[in-house]
Amino acid sequence: MSKRNLAVVILAAGQGTRMKSAKPKVMHEIAGLPMIKHVIKAAEGLKPSHIVVVRAPSQDEVAETAKPHFSTVQPQAMGTADALKCGTRALPDDFTGDVLMIYGDTPLVSTHTLNALVTHHRAFDVAATILAFVPPEPTGYGRIFQNGDGTLKEIIEEKDASAEQRAVRICNSGLAVYRFEKLMDRLAQIKNENAKAEFYVTDLPPIMQAEGEQCGVTRGDYYELRGVNDRAQLAEMELAWQHLKRLEMMQNGVTLQDPNTVYFAHDTKIAADAVIGQHVVFGAGVVIEENVILKAFSHIEGAHIKANATVGPFVRLRPGAEIGADAKIGNFVEIKNSKLEKGVKVSHLAYVGDAEIGANTNFGCGAVTVNYDGKNKHKTIIGKDVMVGCNVNLVAPVTVEDNAYLAAGSTITETVPKDALAIAREKQTTKENWKKK
Ligand code: UD1
Ligand code: CA
Repeated sequence: MSKRNLAVVILAAGQGTRMKSAKPKVMHEIAGLPMIKHVIKAAEGLKPSHIVVVRAPSQDEVAETAKPHFSTVQPQAMGTADALKCGTRALPDDFTGDVLMIYGDTPLVSTHTLNALVTHHRAFDVAATILAFVPPEPTGYGRIFQNGDGTLKEIIEEKDASAEQRAVRICNSGLAVYRFEKLMDRLAQIKNENAKAEFYVTDLPPIMQAEGEQCGVTRGDYYELRGVNDRAQLAEMELAWQHLKRLEMMQNGVTLQDPNTVYFAHDTKIAADAVIGQHVVFGAGVVIEENVILKAFSHIEGAHIKANATVGPFVRLRPGAEIGADAKIGNFVEIKNSKLEKGVKVSHLAYVGDAEIGANTNFGCGAVTVNYDGKNKHKTIIGKDVMVGCNVNLVAPVTVEDNAYLAAGSTITETVPKDALAIAREKQTTKENWKKK
């Protein structure tokens, strides 16, 4: 048997009314990445010949996020059957094979589960295979009914189900594979005679059986297959994602001192033997190398921390922060768009913005780069082995050469040459017995 083609259609044109949002539902983020992107990534893992995203007319941002994949417009949200019709219509005329349908609001589905569904479908060689699951609380999901031989009989939507039917706990995840041949003809037979007056894709199985075909059903894991319809479910999914990520990190050799208080972004990369303290939050684009110690209550975003550095507690690293190997960044320090070489110390209460700091330089307590003149940002370049005293202002653009010494409280506005001492502050005046007078 020759390998069949696979196309993936992702439905994302629903109004997402229950989110009460101006933003399309699938653009709401989990771990800093839109839900639709999570689904696309899982689909890409299957290496299908096509991925098509079905979106609503006004949702340009969905089309943008779906790129490089093709997205097509469903003119009106008339139901999942109509949406699937729009999606399959976007496939090339000569397409043959299977169509995997995924809902854009099922963001935790894995490539593994998608693959298992397609494999099951092909092994049983049926017209359609539905992925079922058993949620602890079935409210809101379509219920699955099977024939005596275990094949799928029908799916009844919650709103159209009787009290007895609602007692069934096996639910429709929304994911399904259809043999493409004749799919369009069958979608055309679906009517919208139901509680929502929508064209339900879940009406397909009885139509297929009436034509003498069988439909299969296989089961997946609730934790992956839950749908997001409102903000409470979005928060629940975020936590579920975080939970899985924490386990993955620990399995990969990262110590999390209190896993439930650490929040990762979708792309956080941490090498083995790093130690992450309590209440650490990661934004997008973080890379942490081996043996880094990241102490409690730090917020790290768009930063690269090199091997053996110690960062925190209470540190904020913003995009473009590059912390060299063996560096020490201590409490209440903010660093953005700056490159710190090996062994740099910024131990307390400092701001480093748009700077380059050479190896082993000590950036004193309360010292700041004055990088913004109200209009433009300027650079501060500091060489290696420099001693920046406490409360120094570095008014950028400014350069401090290797091995220089900046006296505490100085406001540095001009180049300080190699090995020099710069003092830029008022000399102390002491008036003896001033108080008695
Ligand atoms: C759907 C299923 C239900 C299943 C549940 C799983 C149907 C009729 N019902 O219900 O059996 O248990 O998902 O989460 O399929 N969409 C469009 N165009 C439309 C309508 C919907 O693209 O015209 C998209 C939505 O953006 C969403 C997906 O299809 O991504 C599912 O639609 P939604 O309204 O959320 O269906 P549910 O009521 O959750
Ligand atoms: Ca849904």
